[in-house]
Amino acid sequence: MIIAIDGPAASGKGTIARRLARHFQLPHLDTGLLYRATARVMLDHGQRLEDADRAVAAARGLALTDFDEERLRGAQMGEAASIVAAIPQVRAVLLDLQRRFASRPEGAVLDGRDIGTVICPDAPVKLFVTASPETRAQRRALELRSRGEDVDYADVLSDIRRRDERDSARSSAPLVAAPDAVLLDTSELDIEGAVRAAVAIAERAKATSA
Ligand code: DC
Repeated sequence: MIIAIDGPAASGKGTIARRLARHFQLPHLDTGLLYRATARVMLDHGQRLEDADRAVAAARGLALTDFDEERLRGAQMGEAASIVAAIPQVRAVLLDLQRRFASRPEGAVLDGRDIGTVICPDAPVKLFVTASPETRAQRRALELRSRGEDVDYADVLSDIRRRDERDSARSSAPLVAAPDAVLLDTSELDIEGAVRAAVAIAERAKATSA
């Protein structure tokens, strides 16, 4: 069974994806890491993030096994990832890698921005996880502070709004809910409540597609 989870930054989709993967005993791919790792390689080499040829070369060189999550999780890397993710040729390179991951016999959980629309359009379970920008900014600020980053709520909120705008407005695979995705708004839910709701949605979808 393939579970496709999309949504904007800090909506809770990552945690929900991890917990669903555990619940259904499926491998999980956080596809944002692919864009973050591509941007990381470019920044490490002093390259401009808008340089499509270099971005494609960086994406081609990625291996799923060598992600150093500590170096990829920061606020700056989210912004950088969003810039390289707007380059269509980068998305084309990463598409194959994601589809290969999703084609395992047992299935998989993938989370990102275009999983239900582009990467796995036939997934039997599709979730679009969202929350208000203010709620997401609060969560992201807490998370970044717990990682030792000294961030200001107002800056995090404006970063989230800018990223939403770029991810939604780009021409290639923009952030949008698939027509057949189930919407899960986590604004008023704590993590356990959000996970319970997601498991119930996935169990229902699994039962009807069986
Ligand atoms: O989910 P995240 O915050 O780690 O993603 C970082 C950026 O990568 C996000 O702003 C847009 C991009 N991204 C994407 O375009 N498509 C995906 N499937 C996943 C992430």
